[in-house]
Amino acid sequence: AENRLWGGRFTGASDPLMDLYNASLPYDKIMYDADLTGTKVYTEGLNKLGLITTEELAEIHKGLEQIRQEWKDGKFVEKPGDEDIHTANERRLGEIIGKHIAGKVHTGRSRNDQVATDMRIYVRENLTKLLEQLAAFIKTILYRAEKEIDVLMPGYTHLQRAQPIRWAHWLSMYATYFTEDYKRLKQILERVNQSPLGSGALAGHPYGIDREFLAQGLGFEAPIGNSLTAVSDRDFVVETLFWSTLFMNHISRFSEDLIIYSTAEFGFVQLADAYSTGSSLMPQKKNPDSLELLRGKSGRVYGSLSGFLMSIKSIPSTYNKDMQEDKEPLFDALTTVEHSILIATGVISTLAINKEKMEGALTMDMLATDLADYLVRKGVPFRETHHISGECVRAAEELKLSGIDKLSLAQFQKIDARFGDDVIDVFDFEVSVERRDATGGTAKSAVRKQLANLASKLQ
Ligand code: ARG
Repeated sequence: AENRLWGGRFTGASDPLMDLYNASLPYDKIMYDADLTGTKVYTEGLNKLGLITTEELAEIHKGLEQIRQEWKDGKFVEKPGDEDIHTANERRLGEIIGKHIAGKVHTGRSRNDQVATDMRIYVRENLTKLLEQLAAFIKTILYRAEKEIDVLMPGYTHLQRAQPIRWAHWLSMYATYFTEDYKRLKQILERVNQSPLGSGALAGHPYGIDREFLAQGLGFEAPIGNSLTAVSDRDFVVETLFWSTLFMNHISRFSEDLIIYSTAEFGFVQLADAYSTGSSLMPQKKNPDSLELLRGKSGRVYGSLSGFLMSIKSIPSTYNKDMQEDKEPLFDALTTVEHSILIATGVISTLAINKEKMEGALTMDMLATDLADYLVRKGVPFRETHHISGECVRAAEELKLSGIDKLSLAQFQKIDARFGDDVIDVFDFEVSVERRDATGGTAKSAVRKQLANLASKLQ
């Protein structure tokens, strides 16, 4: 136990499996940069207190930068006893600048406030990156919607043809979801960006360190107001996981729509080769693997959220080792989300659409609501017109006509005398779509407003 940072009171040898079980270095070393930056600013705080001389501070910073370079170059040598990234970096600092000076950097600090600080820096960095990638993804969708605003397709409820909509309206629906995700992520970032540093193990700092100075030095908005909360709070991890889960839920619905639209039965869209794969047996197959993976990987992110929620349920205040279990689900979710955004961007920017198939899937019965609306405009109450329109659908079916538009004026008038010869004007998909020009609707002007509004949210 003599090469451990906390080895002083321990005499017995430890179980080697326990060492492995306890170690987080294999996965928390990806936070090396945050850890070194945290120590850099922390030692400045100690210097301000006179606990470290300015010469010592310079030595420490030089050593920390050398370690940063070693990690960057893949030259950092991990040693037995390096329990986690914090102990590994400190051990290495001692080797470079001598234990006498390196032994001072942890004065008043605990790995409890240290790890919470590192995690927040790391999460902040990753969420900031995700924000940019998400904005690029949304812009790709908006661009496509603007370009293909003329294309119509069936809109579905219960996966049954419902009413004609613009393809751009469908795109704008997902852009709206993703823009809400974008806004939500910004709000989460505000709560992530608070500083635990200078809280010690739990009770606070015994030398009166300037926590505002530490917070500022690390780009945090402010110190967390209670030292016990500072070391025990992992809500920012939960929020990040929840955000990731909700985002992946949107991604999986988006993917599912496109999987359905890419079947031969629909034929609305065709995936680029770059995002499809073939079958090892059936030569004709082109499978939408990218979309299936986007859909499938959402499940693993849900798992990360629920798993971590279980891990921290009912743990007593303040730090408990259970909390080390925040890392793997968090890191995995962040990577999965990042890759998913990039793949989804690739898919949507390279997808080919088949306008003929989309518009060919529109059927006249999808205008039955418009037929009801026609009579509403003539002063008939909607509940009545709904019924009359239904009778028209049934009559067309019974007469084996190809659609309600094929009923003659006499047949319409037999059902209701208020039908006039202008009823024929109802049977135009473009007219139907253009009628829906209220905010949020599928008319061209309404969709354009949506697109502009969404774009303005991405600044
Ligand atoms: N590797 C630990 C973690 O991730 C660092 C904090 C350890 N603190 C402690 N008191 N053992 O949570």
